[in-house]
Amino acid sequence: MSTVELDPARTGRPSLTVPDGPRHARVHGVGGYRPERVVTNEEICQYIDSSDEWIRQRSGIVTRRFAREDESVIDMAEAAARDAIANAGVDPSQIGVVLMATVTHPFQTPAAAPLLAVRLGIQDPAAFDISAACAGYCYGISLANDIVRAGTADYVLVVGVEKLSDFTDKHDRGTAFIFGDGAGAAVVGVSDFPGIGPTVWGSDGENWDKIQQREGWTDMRPRMEDPDGGDPLQWPNFAMQGQSVFRWAVYSMAPVVRKALEVAGLGADDLDVFVPHQANMRITDAMIKELKLPAHVPVARDIAETGNTSAASVPLATARMLDEGEAPHGGLSLQMGFGAGLVYAAQVIVLP
Ligand SMILES: CC(C)(COP(=O)(O)OP(=O)(O)OC[C@H]1O[C@@H](n2cnc3c(N)ncnc32)[C@H](O)[C@@H]1OP(=O)(O)O)[C@@H](O)C(=O)NCCC(=O)NCCS
Repeated sequence: MSTVELDPARTGRPSLTVPDGPRHARVHGVGGYRPERVVTNEEICQYIDSSDEWIRQRSGIVTRRFAREDESVIDMAEAAARDAIANAGVDPSQIGVVLMATVTHPFQTPAAAPLLAVRLGIQDPAAFDISAACAGYCYGISLANDIVRAGTADYVLVVGVEKLSDFTDKHDRGTAFIFGDGAGAAVVGVSDFPGIGPTVWGSDGENWDKIQQREGWTDMRPRMEDPDGGDPLQWPNFAMQGQSVFRWAVYSMAPVVRKALEVAGLGADDLDVFVPHQANMRITDAMIKELKLPAHVPVARDIAETGNTSAASVPLATARMLDEGEAPHGGLSLQMGFGAGLVYAAQVIVLP
């Protein structure tokens, strides 16, 4: 900690004491949780006019997992966080901030993060949720990096978790086959070396309506209070303009990943692994092409068995690749998330 005289007008009066900084930060451990129930394309096709072949061809998805009815985002987050904390080798008491990226925690307030902290035995941390959809985890890693580097906390738990099955209309051809449930987590903490590159992030609010909850809660209220007052109430599932999102992802997100490499002072050749948001296998393939990623760099293709789990997709895919030896410990991973908002974030990290 240092005490610095910042404002000459305050000479002789008490000054602020601030942490010395910036320090280095890195990811110390990642973890994941996949619900037990495997849902096949055949099961999805019981409710929509589609086929296993079409879904595989257009999205790359073969199966996804759905959580139990009584399994909450906090339950799934807890399992993933325990895994990440164990892999990081830290004690929960060392964690000063809990960030939970999710858009499917079913309470407007309070946030899920404080309850997750209690479950994990983390004493009195700063705890809040991040609403940045499929970019939420990469937003969280960026915030955690800044928090640790600035000296605000030594260790930050970042969780990406979704129970999208709660907010997906199983009769909607445009979304029913895409989404899945799951959780992924990382512990970010102080480091002797730089372990998280600068984040390239942003938003495109002009396209706010491209992926959205069908209706706001307050729009539903009059009909809830007066059942004869208009259209019948419908659960506010998520809707998506698939083709527009697809085009945006392919044309606008490739420059973002390229920039994340550039600001980290790296080339595609330096990478040990590429972990894009698991939105659609064809989007991943288009990004690989745009990046001119060398064929020897492994690419996350977790979507085949996991579907699109929004904020959970990047940490879940990372955890799988580390567990299966496809990604090397200590290797460089380019990770990126993009989704509803529209929002996006990308950064290179050193794998734990
Ligand atoms: C959703 C998505 C797979 C749909 O694929 P697409 O190729 O864009 O499909 P389109 O909507 O253009 O429809 C193409 C054809 O398939 C049909 N189709 C649409 N959904 C279908 C389904 N579930 N099963 C079978 N056929 C379907 C359409 O009717 C259309 O038929 P037509 O050519 O006879 O008119 C694709 O748009 C996508 O992945 N978008 C991005 C989604 C995403 O990444 N979301 C997450 C961001 S976080």
